[in-house]
Amino acid sequence: MGGLCPLKFVLFVSLASVLVPGAWGWSKEGHIMTCRIAQSLLEPDAAHAVENLLPQHVNGDLSALCVWPDQVRHWYRYRWTSPLHFIDTPDDACTYEFSRDCHDTHGKKNMCIVGAIRNFTSQLLHYREGSSDRRHNMTEALLFLSHFMGDVHQPMHVGFTSDEGGNTIELRWFRHKSNLHHVWDREIILTALADYYDKDTELLLQDIVANFTDGVWHDDVSSWKDCDNLMKCPNKYATESINMACKWGYKGVTPGETLADDYFNSRMPIVMKRIAQGGIRLAMFLNRIFSDSDEEFAAAT
Ligand SMILES: *[C@@H]1O[C@H](CO)[C@@H](O)[C@H](O)[C@H]1NC(C)=O
Ligand SMILES: *[C@@H]1O[C@H](CO)[C@@H](O)[C@H](O)[C@H]1NC(C)=O
Ligand SMILES: *[C@@H]1O[C@H](CO)[C@@H](O)[C@H](O)[C@H]1NC(C)=O
Ligand SMILES: [Zn+2]
Repeated sequence: MGGLCPLKFVLFVSLASVLVPGAWGWSKEGHIMTCRIAQSLLEPDAAHAVENLLPQHVNGDLSALCVWPDQVRHWYRYRWTSPLHFIDTPDDACTYEFSRDCHDTHGKKNMCIVGAIRNFTSQLLHYREGSSDRRHNMTEALLFLSHFMGDVHQPMHVGFTSDEGGNTIELRWFRHKSNLHHVWDREIILTALADYYDKDTELLLQDIVANFTDGVWHDDVSSWKDCDNLMKCPNKYATESINMACKWGYKGVTPGETLADDYFNSRMPIVMKRIAQGGIRLAMFLNRIFSDSDEEFAAAT
């Protein structure tokens, strides 16, 4: 039998990633909005640190690289990051527990979104020591943290094990084929963009920002940001996600059916709120990680 020649292999791999777009995280729109929100809320210390860590070519725009972890997850060098994009919880339990659920399929501990957020948070806490810890690439740590803070807020990223967070639940979204996971990664956002925002992500983003600055979510922001210990709070975000996955994601969905207006109208507000929460909490993390005070550093070491 002849081996797969490298060119065919490359074509196969890139085709496969076109066929299952964004099966591992918020779509690029979701990640871009999360990171735009976060960067706009940075205090001076964090803003400078982020600017220093970003490569020249993005001109200081964090959101340009927040999808990067999805792009490299198939590369040999980054294959270890693949299990970090989600958390599998026991079917129908509708709960998340770090010690029970945060591992990869081989049982390796900490290999899940929450473990990743902790890992890259503690790596970044060493940034202030200057050149200290050369084992880790601080730019990559920033991009991973920014990406995974988005993923942990996508409810179906903390889903059931046997259906892979809804990936194997095939159905139709209005007139085209999709799956339940992808509906939450991207379809709801794209339909919202097409129906209400002239397909302009910037307009949608402005609406989300308006809703947490003086709109419907204004009074909730301080509770969203509430966090005593950066290493523990991601557990809370994962628990919120599995609760929403049960209450809004899986609820009432039959494989093979068509999801349309009813599902879209009732779930869109949840998706938008999760994007806002992800952005606000990412800013909270970065502000504390890069602030001049020694509090976080002492707590984490
Ligand atoms: C933490 O990051 C390092 C590389 O920076 C990696 O080797 C390790 O597997 C990561 N662990 C988790 C849980 O993300
Ligand atoms: C850190 O990672 C980025 C992105 O992968 C890469 O471009 C850069 O060269 C790395 N820096 C170092 C010092 O290895
Ligand atoms: C913002 O809030 C208004 C009023 O509740 C709502 O109609 C709109 O859909 C919200 N927009 C987003 C993007 O959340
Ligand atoms: Zn992801």
